[in-house]
Amino acid sequence: MSSSAASQPPAATPPDAAPPDGGRAHARADDASGPANDTTTVPTALCERSPRVPAEQLVAEMVPPPRFDAVRFGTYVPDPSQPSQTEAVELLRSFAAGLGGASATGEARGGLFRRRRRRAVAEGPRGVYLDGGYGVGKTHLLASLWHATPAPPERKAFGTFVELTHLVGALGFQQAVAALSGHRLLCIDEFELDDPGDTVLVSSLLGRLVEAGVALAATSNTLPGKLGEGRFAATDFMREIQGLSAHFRAARIDGQDFRHRGLPEAPAPHDDRTVVGTAHRTPGASLDAFPALLGHLATVHPSRYGAMCEGLSAVCLTGVTPVPDQSTALRLVVLADRLYDREVPVLASGEPFDRLFSEEMLNGGYRKKYFRAISRLTSLARDAGRLTGS
Ligand SMILES: Nc1ncnc2c1ncn2[C@@H]1O[C@H](COP(=O)(O)OP(=O)(O)OP(=O)(O)O)[C@@H](O)[C@H]1O
Ligand SMILES: [Mg+2]
Repeated sequence: MSSSAASQPPAATPPDAAPPDGGRAHARADDASGPANDTTTVPTALCERSPRVPAEQLVAEMVPPPRFDAVRFGTYVPDPSQPSQTEAVELLRSFAAGLGGASATGEARGGLFRRRRRRAVAEGPRGVYLDGGYGVGKTHLLASLWHATPAPPERKAFGTFVELTHLVGALGFQQAVAALSGHRLLCIDEFELDDPGDTVLVSSLLGRLVEAGVALAATSNTLPGKLGEGRFAATDFMREIQGLSAHFRAARIDGQDFRHRGLPEAPAPHDDRTVVGTAHRTPGASLDAFPALLGHLATVHPSRYGAMCEGLSAVCLTGVTPVPDQSTALRLVVLADRLYDREVPVLASGEPFDRLFSEEMLNGGYRKKYFRAISRLTSLARDAGRLTGS
C-alpha cells in the first residue's frame, strides 16, 4: 500500500519507534507563568502515548466515532433554505431501506438465494456519494445511514479512508476483502482523492466488495489544485474510483458550516497558567507543549492518532504557534479530526487556531483540510470553555 503520498502525513521515523526524548518534553506545571496552586491530578501527555492496535481489532472497531453514536436521520435538521439537504436525507433513507434484511434478500436461506441477491445487487447503483463543503453534515448523514441500515453492527462497517488503507496494510488485501465481503454496508468517510497509490488500492478493494454484494457510501476530501473551482468534488471522486462510478449515485448537500451557525466567535487563547492549572484540575486531561507534540506526531502513524486520544477528557496545549511545514500541518489535521470525532475539548495558550496555517498553506492545495481543521479546533476550543468556567 502507498504510504508516501503527500496527503498522508508521513511519519518521520518508523511508526513503532519510541518517541525521542525531546518528544517527552511536555509542559509541566512549573513551566507556566505561575504556580498552579489548585493541582489535584497529574495530567497525562500525548507525547507519551504510542499505541498499537492489533489487526483483529481493526474490523471490529469500524463503527461511527463517539460524536456520531447518537446521530440519526431524525436528528438532522435540514436548513429550509437549502432543499438539497432534505433531498439528501430522503435519498439516504430509501438507500438504507433498500439494503433490506435477511428475509427480504433470502440470504438467511443461503446458497442459491444469496447468489441471486449478489447478482441482482451488482447490477443497480450500490453506492451513494455525499458531496458538500465542510460542516454541512456529511459525516452526520453517513453515520445515520450506518445506524439505519438493517443489519447487526458486525455486518456493517464505518471508517475513514485512512483507517481503511490501514486495515488493508495490516491484514493484507485478500484478508481485507474476506473480512468485509460478508458486510451489507461499508461507509467510507473522507475518501482521499489526492493520494494516487491508496486510491487505486481502495478502488480495487471496493470493486471486489461490490461484486460480493456490499453496498457502499462515501464522502471525500477535494483534489489539490481544484479547490478554487468550488467546494464540490463528485466529478473528481467518480473519476478517481475508476470503473466503479456506475455504482455510485451522488447527493450534493449545499449549506453553511453547521458547527458555527449562529454561534459566537472562537474564544481567545488562554494564558499558560490557566491551561496548566486546568490540566491539573481536570481528571483525564492531557498536557503538552505544542511544539513537542508536533514533534511527537511525526513518530506515530496517523492511523493511530485515534487510539492516542482514547479516553482523554480534554487536551491542554501550551505555546501554540503556526506549524512550520506542510507535513506537520497535515499530521495536525489528522489529530484535529480524531479529537473532533471523540469530542475531546481543546484548551490552548499561544496563537489562536486560525493562525496555525500560513497564508500560503491556506491558499494551496490542502486549503479545505486546513479550513476544516480550524473549524473543528475552534469548535473544540469553544467546548473547552466549560472547563475554565468561561
Ligand atoms: N442539519 C443538521 N442538523 C443537525 N446537526 C447537524 C446538521 N448538520 C451538521 N450537524 C452537526 O454539526 C456537526 C458537523 O457536521 P458533520 O461533521 O457531519 O459535517 P461534515 O460535512 O462531515 O463536515 P467536515 O467537512 O468537517 O467533515 C456534527 O456534530 C453534526 O452532527
Ligand atoms: Mg465529515
